[in-house]
Amino acid sequence: MTNVNTEKLSSARFAEATDAFVEVFTASVDFDKRMAQQDIQGSMAHAKMLCKIGVLTDKERDDILSGLEKISTEIAEGQFNWSVKQEDVHMNIEARLTDLIGIAGKKLHTGRSRNDQVATDIRLYLRSEVEHIAKEMTRLQRALLNLAEQEADTIMPGFTHLQVAQPITFGHHLMAWFEMLCRDQERLQDCYKRINVMPLGAAALAGTSYPIDRHMTAELLHFSRPSANSLDSVSDRDFAIEFCAAGSLIMMHLSRFSEELILWTSAQFDFIDMPDAFCTGSSIMPQKKNPDVPELVRGKSGRVTGHLISLLMLMKSQPLAYNKDNQEDKEPLFDTVDTLINCLRAFADMVPHIKPKKASMYKAAKQGFATATDLADYLVRKGMAFRDAHEVVGQAVRLGITTQRDLSELDLAELQNFSPAIGEDVFQVLSLEGSVASRKHIGGTAPDTVRQAIHTARKALKHLDADPD
Ligand code: ARG
Repeated sequence: MTNVNTEKLSSARFAEATDAFVEVFTASVDFDKRMAQQDIQGSMAHAKMLCKIGVLTDKERDDILSGLEKISTEIAEGQFNWSVKQEDVHMNIEARLTDLIGIAGKKLHTGRSRNDQVATDIRLYLRSEVEHIAKEMTRLQRALLNLAEQEADTIMPGFTHLQVAQPITFGHHLMAWFEMLCRDQERLQDCYKRINVMPLGAAALAGTSYPIDRHMTAELLHFSRPSANSLDSVSDRDFAIEFCAAGSLIMMHLSRFSEELILWTSAQFDFIDMPDAFCTGSSIMPQKKNPDVPELVRGKSGRVTGHLISLLMLMKSQPLAYNKDNQEDKEPLFDTVDTLINCLRAFADMVPHIKPKKASMYKAAKQGFATATDLADYLVRKGMAFRDAHEVVGQAVRLGITTQRDLSELDLAELQNFSPAIGEDVFQVLSLEGSVASRKHIGGTAPDTVRQAIHTARKALKHLDADPD
């Protein structure tokens, strides 16, 4: 047949034009154009390598490089004419290059395929986004350290089962969040190592018959090394799944963090004041100040976990090597990146403005017999077995409940009724300050220990790029 659609990709193979709906249905340009600059970067490295091995002349290489440079500017300036007919970002750029420089443009695809090209683009893209995310996380971590330092002595109740358990310091609580983010950072850095491997050269699936220099392209693109197996390189998206898993954990942490902020701003807790700039009012209730930012972040954690599951499902049944299924990897991945950056940014901006309501926190710590364990430990120090001490304190708590007094408000004589071992020194133990100050081992809530933890954490953060100090 001669009546072929000349616009169609690999057109000579086809006798019929693509169905108009199928053309749109199979196209990815609307979303993968986001990787345009990475696609150009990859093509530039590929062209340089092809020239070095003698596949392109110097002139062809230079034409390709300047053509790609121009395309890069057109895209950056919003002048590029994206076409669904060209299916994806790769074909759009190649077609424009051929428009601009003629035959040399048609030589760029020698020894490569869109399969290794797209795998390379995603890795280049994700690599820089991981750096961006890590920076926002560091900013949030720094904000937490600063607030923790200011609030190292601020007493609040610590909870288990959302019931008042023992007094802690607000600084200590903030440092718990900090620790979660440290592990999140480690996960990101670890997954970065596996992102940073170069698939280019795997071509469609089996490599290429040209004597390509993969070390050269890997070096030009700052990858740690070329990938080891061509089939694996073009097909697996485990690095993206791993990233989404790390992202889901980050969001899970931010969601827990949000949940606490939301509870704490409520009139029932009244532990903190949230900056007005991060809250909104109600359209009907004039008195309302809603903690929208943490609520939204808590809500958004769901979609990131959803993206993780999407990618796992996308991958799990694919035979080697590349399948078109993989085109579906991008939207979940991009949305994960956007959500992470936006949520981390909102938190990093908001945390410095969180104001604890110290009196209210203190009052809450006073209720709920938060120093009961301290009294039991005191009796143990006086020679009583812990189980017996537990019993004695239970009785004292019962008296407190019936007479509506905290343990520290019971008389010495009353306490001595429960155990003659109790002396005047018990009141230091029953005070909130005494309780927190006594927990001064590594990982404890004592103000000095918290300050030490902050100091150690600051030193550990120093090696990160985002460190402005
Ligand atoms: N748009 C495709 C993707 O995102 C690019 C690779 C296409 N390869 C192919 N053999 N159809 O995966």
